[in-house]
Amino acid sequence: MTQRDSGPAAEATSRSRAIRGRLLTFLREPAGPGDRDSYRYIADGVVHVADGRIAAAGPAEEILPGLPPGTTVDHHPDRIVMPGFIDLHIHMPQTQVIASYGTQLLDWLERYTFIEEQKYADPEHSAAGARFFLDELLRNGTTTAVAYGSVHPQSADALFAESERRGACIIAGKVMMDRNAPNALRDTAQKGYDDSKALIERWHGRDRLRYAVTPRFAITSTEAQLEAAGALMREHPDAYMQTHLSENLDEIAYVRTLFPDARDYTDVYDRFGLLGPNSLFGHCIHLSDEELDRLSESRSVAVFCPTSNLFIGSGLFDLARLRRREAPVRVGLATDVGGGTSYSMLRTVAEAYKVLQLRRQNLPALTAFHQMTRANAEALGLDAEIGTLEPGCYADLVVLDARATPAMAHRMDTVRGDLEEELFILLTLGDDRSVTKTYLRGEPVEFEG
Ligand code: GUN
Ligand code: ZN
Repeated sequence: MTQRDSGPAAEATSRSRAIRGRLLTFLREPAGPGDRDSYRYIADGVVHVADGRIAAAGPAEEILPGLPPGTTVDHHPDRIVMPGFIDLHIHMPQTQVIASYGTQLLDWLERYTFIEEQKYADPEHSAAGARFFLDELLRNGTTTAVAYGSVHPQSADALFAESERRGACIIAGKVMMDRNAPNALRDTAQKGYDDSKALIERWHGRDRLRYAVTPRFAITSTEAQLEAAGALMREHPDAYMQTHLSENLDEIAYVRTLFPDARDYTDVYDRFGLLGPNSLFGHCIHLSDEELDRLSESRSVAVFCPTSNLFIGSGLFDLARLRRREAPVRVGLATDVGGGTSYSMLRTVAEAYKVLQLRRQNLPALTAFHQMTRANAEALGLDAEIGTLEPGCYADLVVLDARATPAMAHRMDTVRGDLEEELFILLTLGDDRSVTKTYLRGEPVEFEG
């Protein structure tokens, strides 16, 4: 239960807020289990928020006496207060595609996804979809997401407008696709360029919003359209680029027939200038060493989407192969809803753990929580803004309860103050029920629906 430390009369006089609980933030990538120097943990800590950003975070006995008079203190005893989760790859128009039966990637797109996405031509459907989407992310403690819209610019407009209204940091783009899709979902190279350009001008850099140029994947874009996407990235070098790469074996074979001159799938994007430090490539499961070299040299980000890779049967992401090379590939983590099966980053990292188990690799709890927060922020180059409890960062926070269900509480009864064990229970058994509260810019998120 949330307890208020300050009286109601005091609350009215100040916009200042503080959140009290067990603070956890990462300082760097953990070397492995037990790496106490990789994080800061304060058993009774306070995050002081001013103008939506973290003014200070430290022990309660240090911070409380210095709070301005009238500061509202939300107390979450026994809960872990940490930076909100960051989801690096998710599809806004697939909230009614999630949990669609019995197909692998190309059939799944045709049978379910391309049908649902057509509904986003309607601005009202887009607006309702954006509201549901953001509610669901925030209920799960995700405060930043990198999202795909549908081909319709109105889907991206709806998502940006709703994100702005809530004050969330959202990166998104309308999908570009000019072939191998139903007519109603096709743009052209020129229209994809024009619509994306207009969206960039309208939204990129406005408040906390950023644009991601979004050619869906090589199969649904002609060379002319990939060229247009490259032009957009040259014209807006601080925008992001997102697409899919090497997810499924039939997809890879199809790409080879569509781009016979390309060395490999990665080269299809490389030729059009689409690799780089702001480029996010979903999946990256079946890549050659040469492709990993190019991703690494270009500082592109490979995004691991474990629930999707299992659900659509795409394959097992090989984290150790990407990371333990001379030049590691930058890696992110994401849900990929609606190919993915949960909006929860806790469920997502639990499935990442299992995928890596099948590859005889480990994912320590510290590494998992670092990935969902600071590492995903670094993948976006936004770690000065989100992903930690450092002063100056936005106070986008999640409050977590490792005793949220009877099964969790029962298991927690065996834990004697071991933070890593608690984090492992949270990630293995936790979901939206473990999220006590989400804060955006230091304000508790209230749900309308
Ligand atoms: N490849 C191209 N489009 C998609 C999509 O919507 N989801 C997934 N998982 N892969 C894709
Ligand atoms: Zn995807």
